Amino acid sequence: MIDLRSDTLTRPTEAMRAAMAGADVGDDVYGEDPTVVRLEERVAGLLGHEAALFMPTGSMSNVLAVRSLVQPGQEVLCDSSAHIARAELGAHGAYSGVTMRTWTHPRGHVDLDAVRGLFAPDMGPFFVRTAAISVENTHNFAGGTVLPLQLLRDLKELATGLGAAVHLDGARLWNAHVATGTPLAEYGATADVLSVCLSKGLGAPVGSLLVGSADTVAEARIWRKRMGGGMRQVGILAAAGLHALDHHVERLADDHAHARLLAEACGVDPATVETNIVVVDRPDAAAFVGRAAAAGVRVATVGPTTVRMVTHLDVTRADAEKAAAVLADLS
Ligand SMILES: Cc1ncc(COP(=O)(O)O)c(C=O)c1O
Repeated sequence: MIDLRSDTLTRPTEAMRAAMAGADVGDDVYGEDPTVVRLEERVAGLLGHEAALFMPTGSMSNVLAVRSLVQPGQEVLCDSSAHIARAELGAHGAYSGVTMRTWTHPRGHVDLDAVRGLFAPDMGPFFVRTAAISVENTHNFAGGTVLPLQLLRDLKELATGLGAAVHLDGARLWNAHVATGTPLAEYGATADVLSVCLSKGLGAPVGSLLVGSADTVAEARIWRKRMGGGMRQVGILAAAGLHALDHHVERLADDHAHARLLAEACGVDPATVETNIVVVDRPDAAAFVGRAAAAGVRVATVGPTTVRMVTHLDVTRADAEKAAAVLADLS
């Protein structure tokens, strides 16, 4: 079976397991796990921010990132298919009392005119105040699309002028970085708080980081513990992340090339596939998934007429070629 349902399906490599087994550890709730500290400092540095906090998941990292910017009863603006709006099970409302209004963009980009139109300043007892704008780069449900750097810069300028903050869900920011060659710190400069994941394309079994100012991270540390996310000898997991940063970033270019092979096989213009995710519109999406599985390729539906396939560390060139041949036969 070639499994293209998600890039979260990767299993740690032997070398990653060895790095995990050999990690120096301590109690991270006491701030005494040297491997976690190393990972946090490294990721903060890569993104050009003061500090970072190791988190169990991207969802928790997003929840704490957004709540650091938006008070209960205030709102965040985002794309209607953003992960924070669609796939975090209402966590931002359920835990943080945050509401959302959305724009819709076919490639998941930020629509600056829509932001201008939606933005609500503090109007006392009349309207919900917009405290932050959230963007996702790369954009998962739009098909791994990369948000142009200039657009993100324009958004930061607009948000600053309006008195709002910017959150960037960078679960796959590494893919955007490799696809465009944009330094991570340039992306980092376009947001007040970011979340980045180690457990997607980078192939670590667990882990995300919330990245921002020292004050934001100090407060997020309290909220992480409050929500039951204080972890102890978690350097074992941070070591997987450090290994991934050393060995699994540049190779993302292979995943991107494999995704273009799959796109071509499914009748999608490969030039529209920027990273490791291909979305295919098919009225028979569920049946297509079933037929692909019967032929040895697992893909997933992410909407009634949308099939998604994702390339990753555990999909070799030969796997991608084989999957492309299977999918082309079904298309
Ligand atoms: C864009 C994006 N953000 C956040 C997440 C959440 O990550 P996690 O599954 O670790 O909670 C995902 C998960 O796939 C994602 O695709």
